[in-house]
Amino acid sequence: MDNISEVLKFLREKQDCVSGDYIAKKLKVSRTAVWKYMNQLERYGYVINKSKGKGYMLVSTPDRLYPWEVDKYRNAGVIGKKIIHRDIVDSTNIVAFKLALAGEEEGTCVIAESQNRGKGRLGRKWCSPVEKNLYLSIIVRPPIHPSVVYPITFLSSLAVYDTIEELTGEKPMLKWPNDVLMHGKKLCGTLLELSTEADIVRFVIIGIGLNVNMNVDEIDEEIRQKASSLLMETKKVYERIPLCGKLLSNLEKYYLQFRQKGEEEIVRIWEERAAIKGKYMEINQMGESYKGICEGVDRYGAILLSIDGKTKKIIAGDVSF
Ligand code: BTN
Repeated sequence: MDNISEVLKFLREKQDCVSGDYIAKKLKVSRTAVWKYMNQLERYGYVINKSKGKGYMLVSTPDRLYPWEVDKYRNAGVIGKKIIHRDIVDSTNIVAFKLALAGEEEGTCVIAESQNRGKGRLGRKWCSPVEKNLYLSIIVRPPIHPSVVYPITFLSSLAVYDTIEELTGEKPMLKWPNDVLMHGKKLCGTLLELSTEADIVRFVIIGIGLNVNMNVDEIDEEIRQKASSLLMETKKVYERIPLCGKLLSNLEKYYLQFRQKGEEEIVRIWEERAAIKGKYMEINQMGESYKGICEGVDRYGAILLSIDGKTKKIIAGDVSF
């Protein structure tokens, strides 16, 4: 893999052909080895012109979230230091969870081009068409009490918020507890899954699904009224590779803040950005509906609703305004 990214670097240095001999010397490998790398790159979807006597020229790069491509756009840090890329998985959360159980280190990120059992919150399905969106799960191991895990959802939403704003110049909207919306439609959700041991967290899986280049016909019919993608909302196609690198860097930023300053700091930033205080809302929680004025979010991420002068704390549910 290291050699693959090195080979790509040499190919990208020039607009013109690069000789096999040059690459072989640089990498201290044989010309046959270089030829094999070229074949490998072609299998990955790169288009390479091979001309006898002249060498190799990179014609195009596939829009696939290979670790060596995403890494070029990621700031140094722990989140995404190791990326495991798969064409198709059941769910990146399931893959990451198994890896974490087997001891995979903090920061490892599982990325898939599609999922056939993508999981949403509250047992829902997450629509995951091939090579259109981002489906990723990150393993973190904060040494914290399980009660303060929930705000990790907020740090994930904040990272997505910043990434969307940087890319589109538009401010998305944050909706409790984990949604990022644009023009009232959901673009992104986060699903946290955790493993605990007595009073301490062993690991948390941060699963993020961000709809990037999906079209309306690729959205499951039952959620078409509510869900959307960056393409549908801004009428632009986005390169997923830089987007993914930026997202990992923003996750690093907020995760560091969470570790250094604690959960309350993250919840406060989220609360301010979501401009949630004072809003009249309805929350559906397991068949029960609560209507009231939002007083904010407590340090653990629960929403505080003022109903007939009394404060009701709600820890899970769906909000509508
Ligand atoms: C939600 O319901 O809003 C949460 C959706 C989370 C979806 C992502 S896609 C990547 C990761 N793998 C999954 O199976 N789910 C999360």
